[in-house]
Amino acid sequence: MKIALASDHGGINIRNEIRALLEELHIEYVDMGCDCEDSVDYPDYALPAAEMVAKGEVDRAILICGTGIGMSIAANKVKGIRCALCHDVFSAKATRQHNDTNVLAMGERVIGPGLAREIASVWLTTEFEGGRHENRVGKITSYENK
Ligand code: RB5
Repeated sequence: MKIALASDHGGINIRNEIRALLEELHIEYVDMGCDCEDSVDYPDYALPAAEMVAKGEVDRAILICGTGIGMSIAANKVKGIRCALCHDVFSAKATRQHNDTNVLAMGERVIGPGLAREIASVWLTTEFEGGRHENRVGKITSYENK
């Protein structure tokens, strides 16, 4: 598995935490910034990372901003992206099992690094259940491809 990792200035600390987690798990990743603490625009980071997923250049992406909301809105504009904003472990597990999400968004002003690590860890290691959920995700893909 290969992951694209990105944040704006509001998500740098959790991005550092997730980078450490990916290294511990021996998961390959591309760190797409941002590289400074100056104010930047989250779509400039969410959209290229989501496009890498959509093009198959990476398998999934993890995006962090202040709330996670801007990153998730932007990522979900990219065709083929199913991004979930998660601030609890239950949702992180369920969204992999039921929604086959390929992007995870989190907000550094909402949760701390420890919980972010747990959420990312569960999201990275939980498989899609398929079955009845396949049909439901398929309906979203069909709508997107109309
Ligand atoms: C930046 O101040 C903040 O708006 C951004 O990190 C994010 O929370 C947007 O949704």
